[in-house]
Amino acid sequence: MITTKQAIEKRRSIRKFKTTPVLHEYLLELVESAKLAPSGCNAQPWRFKIVEDTDTKKKLAQAAFDQSFISRAPAVIVCCADIGSYLNGVVSGVQDLGQIGAIEDKYVGIITKRAENMLKLPIEQIGPQIAFNVAIAIEHMVLRALDFGLGTCWIKLLDGPKVNRLFEWDDSIYTVALLPIGYPAENPEPRKRMSVERLLL
Ligand SMILES: Cc1cc2nc3c(=O)[nH]c(=O)nc-3n(C[C@H](O)[C@H](O)[C@H](O)COP(=O)(O)O)c2cc1C
Repeated sequence: MITTKQAIEKRRSIRKFKTTPVLHEYLLELVESAKLAPSGCNAQPWRFKIVEDTDTKKKLAQAAFDQSFISRAPAVIVCCADIGSYLNGVVSGVQDLGQIGAIEDKYVGIITKRAENMLKLPIEQIGPQIAFNVAIAIEHMVLRALDFGLGTCWIKLLDGPKVNRLFEWDDSIYTVALLPIGYPAENPEPRKRMSVERLLL
């Protein structure tokens, strides 16, 4: 078993995949790992659509500005935020946290009010705010995929409304990213990174 450090160092964005199919059970395992991600107030706003059929994968690739390699991945997980259920998630999550004493009671009201205010904003502002919770869950899947020898690539360059139309989702679903998944047919060198010194402010 590799350590978390080794997994972080080993991960690459993979854009070439073998045609070998990926067991559906593995994809469900990835979602299992996603659900363990932390989220604000434990609201768990992430939702996932597992896509394995060729026609839908092609349409997803088109919605991602024709990044055609997406359609050649054996599976694609569409990673979304459920804005519609967010407030309920916050209210019940924050109450649970209050009950178990993880947060002080006074924060329950403050946090609930903040979530209510957030939901009064236009969708273009709410989506990205909730999306960062989903991003953490996505990265859980990315790292867990390595346990199965699977490669992934974050896809954020996409036309979200186009994805919504494809699945007939309303505005309460905000598409955050696509995650094509498959056995790597490439072994890229580590991509350039800045030094730690440069990162420190
Ligand atoms: C938020 C985000 C969005 C990305 N969007 C795309 C994308 O649309 N298409 C793509 O080919 N790669 C995309 N990538 C992959 C990056 O290009 C890649 O992570 C970066 O070049 C570093 O390479 P590495 O992941 O192999 O270390 C994205 C990565 C992140 C984290």
